Amino acid sequence: MRRKLAAGNWKMNGTSADLAQIETLARTHVGAISEILIAPPATLLHRASEITRTGPVTLGAQDCHASGSGAHTGDISAAMLLDAGASYVILGHSERRGDHAEQDSDVSAKASAALGAGLRVIICMGEALQEREAGNTLDIIASQLAGSVPDDVSGENLVIAYEPIWAIGTGKVPSLAQIGEVHDFLRARLEQRFGAQTARAVRLLYGGSVKAANAEQIFAIPNVDGALVGGASLTADDFTPIINALDAI
Ligand code: 13P
Repeated sequence: MRRKLAAGNWKMNGTSADLAQIETLARTHVGAISEILIAPPATLLHRASEITRTGPVTLGAQDCHASGSGAHTGDISAAMLLDAGASYVILGHSERRGDHAEQDSDVSAKASAALGAGLRVIICMGEALQEREAGNTLDIIASQLAGSVPDDVSGENLVIAYEPIWAIGTGKVPSLAQIGEVHDFLRARLEQRFGAQTARAVRLLYGGSVKAANAEQIFAIPNVDGALVGGASLTADDFTPIINALDAI
């Protein structure tokens, strides 16, 4: 069975003072059924790893470079993230695709590098509002899945996050049926490409304005294996009820 995953993406938020939130989560959720992941900014990874070493929280990074090392000022390699305490890396988030013009091929190359370094990958995809309104959502998802996910994945080291761009940070959430449709489609496409056994093991997260108030309903959708949470993961007070809702499924 797939282990549920409650993942928090802190984006460009958090300084040393916020490590206390991770400490609180680790203390509160000892014995959690779900896997709990926080992806803080890279500057906090190492210190966070000292807090999470023995507890229920695992750590992720928010991006990596496709190369192992070299002349890439300001970039961070997958091996460096692993060394700093990450066991996952989020790749292809729509904010990276938008802010840094990352293409599917870039995301795929980064994913291969991350997997090669021993990280698990959370590959993000999702449609813009115009694409949803034009009825193109599944076409967009199909092409992002084909282009962003490399061939060398296994069911255990791949997580996919469906994040409709128009739902991120907006308080707008697709209908439960719309989320279910995309997640079912993702599972079917994964099965076509990687076979049933691998497809069954891949965790599919929903992301976009997940809050305590909507988490329970979203987690009850078949093929939703957890969430990738932005704003509501920044404090233990906000994230804890979401984790509890996932544990209760
Ligand atoms: P919000 O939960 O703030 O909408 O962000 C979602 C997201 O982008 C997680 O990666």
